[in-house]
Amino acid sequence: MFDPRPLVDIATAIGREAGALVQRMRASAVVSFDTKSTSTDVVTAADRASEQLVRTRLSELRPGEPILGEEEGGPDGGIAEGLTWVVDPIDGTVNYLYGIPWYSVSIAAQLDGESVAGAVVEPSTGRVWTAARGHGAFLDGTPLHVSATTDLSLSLLGYGFAYRPERRQRQADTWAAMSTRVRDLRRAGAASLDLCSVAAGRLDAYAEHGLGRWDWAAGGLIASEAGAVVRLPGSSPELGEDATFAAAPGIADAMHDALVESGFGKV
Ligand code: IPD
Repeated sequence: MFDPRPLVDIATAIGREAGALVQRMRASAVVSFDTKSTSTDVVTAADRASEQLVRTRLSELRPGEPILGEEEGGPDGGIAEGLTWVVDPIDGTVNYLYGIPWYSVSIAAQLDGESVAGAVVEPSTGRVWTAARGHGAFLDGTPLHVSATTDLSLSLLGYGFAYRPERRQRQADTWAAMSTRVRDLRRAGAASLDLCSVAAGRLDAYAEHGLGRWDWAAGGLIASEAGAVVRLPGSSPELGEDATFAAAPGIADAMHDALVESGFGKV
């Protein structure tokens, strides 16, 4: 039977190497950047160097396997049959740019489009979040479990905003509507780590539209293996076609309904 755990070891080792590079580049120079979809959507030289390193190391250790990366793309949008590596060389690039230490290198292996192994490395702390399908989720080897909360009004919701201003306005309207229904909201700026935070019970839920596959491929598996209810883009029309949602099971239905009532599905 297929055992995904060796793939976690590979993702972890390469993620650590890329994380060390990213840290060296941050320490050694002013961070230079270009823009992508909008003037606020940035890519740094470190994003590109990190992806290059991951691609080189994967092609040495796993020759011939396709790679989808945020900066260089990949075959069929990453949903080809068989095994594909899905890489975000720096998730949380805006945090990285500003020196906020909440960013990651995220590497996942997907089989027929579904994540089977993943590692989310925090370069600034060296912490590593991991999961293999059917084998649980871990932070530095310690098992992770979602929160046991059952009360929506006492739950902490992680959230995200798109880069396009019109969509951001609608997302802000939903944020305002949700603000009276939950304990509080957080916009931390790195989707992979938001998902890991749900896995660890540091957030009770997380919801965002418009993520790339590289943003959720490892973190979504980690949240799900820690016991979260996870909805990935394309799986939940009520929340919106490109919604990513993860929640502790005790509040998942209530959070889902509150988001829909707050207009989340229409943003
Ligand atoms: C971004 C972060 C952010 C999310 C954006 C993503 P990037 O990823 O995960 O939290 O709100 O939608 O694009 O661009 O830093 O890899």
